Amino acid sequence: MHEETRGPPGIGRERQAEIYLGGVRGQKPAVPVAADRLEERAREVMSREGFAYVAGGAGLESTIAANRAAFDRRRIVPRVLRDASERDCGIELFSRKLDSPFLLAPIGVLEAVHRNADLAVARAAAAEGIPMIFSNQASVAMEHCAAAMGNAPRWFQLYWSTSNELVASFVRRAEACGCSAIVVTLDTTLFGWRPRDLDLPFLPFALGKGIAQYTSDPVFNRLLDEAKDAAAEDRDRITPTAVRSLIELARAFPGSFWTNLRSGRPRKAVRLFLEIYSRPSLTWDDLSFLRGLTPLPIMLKGVLHPADATAAVERGVEGLIVSNHGGRQVDGAIASLDALPPIVAAVGDKIPILLDSGIRGGADAFKALALGARAVLIGRPYAYGLAIAGEDGVREVIRNFRAELDLTMGLAGCGSVSEITGGTVAQGG
Ligand code: FNR
Repeated sequence: MHEETRGPPGIGRERQAEIYLGGVRGQKPAVPVAADRLEERAREVMSREGFAYVAGGAGLESTIAANRAAFDRRRIVPRVLRDASERDCGIELFSRKLDSPFLLAPIGVLEAVHRNADLAVARAAAAEGIPMIFSNQASVAMEHCAAAMGNAPRWFQLYWSTSNELVASFVRRAEACGCSAIVVTLDTTLFGWRPRDLDLPFLPFALGKGIAQYTSDPVFNRLLDEAKDAAAEDRDRITPTAVRSLIELARAFPGSFWTNLRSGRPRKAVRLFLEIYSRPSLTWDDLSFLRGLTPLPIMLKGVLHPADATAAVERGVEGLIVSNHGGRQVDGAIASLDALPPIVAAVGDKIPILLDSGIRGGADAFKALALGARAVLIGRPYAYGLAIAGEDGVREVIRNFRAELDLTMGLAGCGSVSEITGGTVAQGG
């Protein structure tokens, strides 16, 4: 090949070379590339409860299956002879240029996945230049994650508490942490019916896991000071499991273990959290309160109906995330990829529309972009990478997704994301 016709290697080819040349030296990727092997390997290293919590979905998990089936039904139609030797996977989102159309979805309770939890994810996201969406149910307070990220992009995901004062405090902290958007998740006003967790039974929050944004919050701590102590009838019978749970709780809570154990404050915090974490009575009118709190772009996550998408635009919301929460909330819900085209048709290009639920590789991202998504969120796969190899594992997953998207673009004849149009996918068998 002549020097002048050899294109830049591209991130896909670089990644392939890295892995294949590693193979020549006898190295195998620690984090499996294939989506099913990735999940399988994570299952091997995770606790039973941790894996059930991450992998599980609502009811019969038919929505998880539907998410995948929707991707399978769409087929990419490659074009040839278009010089796709140079490819740009970059996009622009809220006036910020990103190297690729990926973000890390907010995933709570990462301490059930890996001891470094959100902090490892924050470092990985920053190193790879992928925005991380801090979960409202994080295991590490947002300030710690932000401090590990330099100027790398991050957003904050909010669950709307029954306390507006707490909502205001979370938003204020997110602004101070350099978050550049607020994502309001609307599909989890109640916990979904999740048989895997119910059968164990395992509710991480009851063990004080995934409530670090709360226990680090001044408003929450004030509400905790004001809350009544546990009533006598609220005290459990002492069993070995109850004692183990108390110890776990005291460990998870900030401050000294012994003080926590003696004071009963961690248990009180769990009770308060369960009381105030969500507001199922939320309506469109409440959004003006949030609007009044912050100039940051507000995105609604969990929108699946085009009429809700239109209402969001009318209310001045800046973006949508089409999502069914990875099939964890409503069993039988529409696949998010199926919900996307009608929403794109209703909203046009007035505001960016992102998508998650079922994205398992770069080719899936390609299909979502072709159907009108501006960007996609990686969910469970990065949690599996985290379980297997911590920060490095998350980085591997991100790099594999980016590489596959780059190669898919090249093979489909697309030099840039703007060339990934509706014509590049077809409805297939
Ligand atoms: C989630 N998701 C989620 N979403 C959110 O807005 N706040 C949260 O705290 C969580 N927590 C959470 C925990 C776990 C273990 C999972 C798997 C998911 C939903 C998440 O942001 C995203 O919508 C889904 O993960 C997308 O589906 P897939 O691609 O993971 O199947």
